[in-house]
Amino acid sequence: PRILLLNGPNLNMLGTREPLIYGTQTLADVERLVTSSAHEFGYEVDALQSNHEGELIDALHRARTTHVGVLLNAGGLTHTSVSLRDAVQASELPMVEIHLSNVHRREDFRHFSYLSEVAIAVIVGAGVTGYRFGVEALHEHLST
Ligand code: DQA
Repeated sequence: PRILLLNGPNLNMLGTREPLIYGTQTLADVERLVTSSAHEFGYEVDALQSNHEGELIDALHRARTTHVGVLLNAGGLTHTSVSLRDAVQASELPMVEIHLSNVHRREDFRHFSYLSEVAIAVIVGAGVTGYRFGVEALHEHLST
C-alpha cells in the first residue's frame, strides 16, 4: 500500500525559510522521515512538493486509485483554497492535515483551515515530528 505525501507552496524552502518558525530541517529530511516511518508500518511513500495549486489537485485526483491515504501540508493554501479541499473529497482518501508551526498562536488568518473539516486528523505545532505522527494517525485509521 502507498501513502501520498503532499507538501504545498513554499515548503521547498524548508530549512532556510524563517527557521525560527519552521526549524532547520529540510524538505528532504521530512521526506526521509515519512518514508522510514511508513516503512515500519509496511507502506511505501510517494512524495510531491509543488508551489502550484493545480498540481496538488491533479496529484490528489491521481491518488484516488493508487494510494490508501494522504499526508497534506498545504502551506498557505490551507487558509484559502476551496478547490484543494474539494480535491481531497474527490479523492475519497483519508487525509491527515499537518502544519509544522502552531498556526493557532500565529496571525488570525492562519486560524481557519478549509481542510480541517475533511481531515481524519489535524496535527499542528509539532514541527517535523508531526509528519511521523501523521503516518501513525493514518495507519491507525486504515487498520481499524
Ligand atoms: C504551514 C502554516 C501555514 O500557515 C503557512 O502558510 C505555511 C506552512 C506550516 O507548516 O506551519 O506555509 O502550513
